[in-house]
Amino acid sequence: MPAPSFDSDGFVRLWPTTLLRRSLPSHDLANAELLRLVTEMEAGKTGEGKQDFTTDYRSGNILTVDNPAIGWLRDCINKTIIDYLKQAGLTYPVNWGLQGWANVNRRGDYHDPHNHPHAYLSGTYYVAVPPGREAPPENRPDLRPGAITFYDPRGFANMTAIRGDRQIEAEFTHRPQAGDLLLWPAFLMHFVHPNLSDEKRVSISFNATLKWSDDYLPRQG
Ligand SMILES: [Fe+2]
Repeated sequence: MPAPSFDSDGFVRLWPTTLLRRSLPSHDLANAELLRLVTEMEAGKTGEGKQDFTTDYRSGNILTVDNPAIGWLRDCINKTIIDYLKQAGLTYPVNWGLQGWANVNRRGDYHDPHNHPHAYLSGTYYVAVPPGREAPPENRPDLRPGAITFYDPRGFANMTAIRGDRQIEAEFTHRPQAGDLLLWPAFLMHFVHPNLSDEKRVSISFNATLKWSDDYLPRQG
């Protein structure tokens, strides 16, 4: 892709942050199997003994498990990454590896704001999302249980924004549905709001880590 430059009207738009959402086709069958698998793995019925998918979310690599639904998900993630890279305008081969982990959030569980160091892209696939994602009446009305919020990576870019300025919102919040696959640059800070349902929220997150090639280095001058 050519370096950014002023267009014919004299504008140049810099520093884009692109996120991608896909609702994966035919996700119902796969989600039933993924939920069964994650539940069994967490209980230690399959895999490497009992596991904690609420806080110990970086252990192992669930995307290497030999299971048809995992294979389907792995293919969907890779296809989505290819589309993302095409949209970014990359015209040369890029190779990556995937590491995935399951998240099981019970009532009150959340993930603090964080990003994913050492990865290029990160994402989450939503296996089970509890209904009733409005704030319970006893809580403040602006709670967004189960949502995910992303933050403008350019610190304080919003501080002088005015009405109608697209920089006025320093955060972007999405309420995912089962079957959603989200993909974003790994540097992007994000916060997973608490689950306020008695039903579990189950998702599979992943990092795409580049297999390094010197071709990735920007051409200078
Ligand atoms: Fe994350």
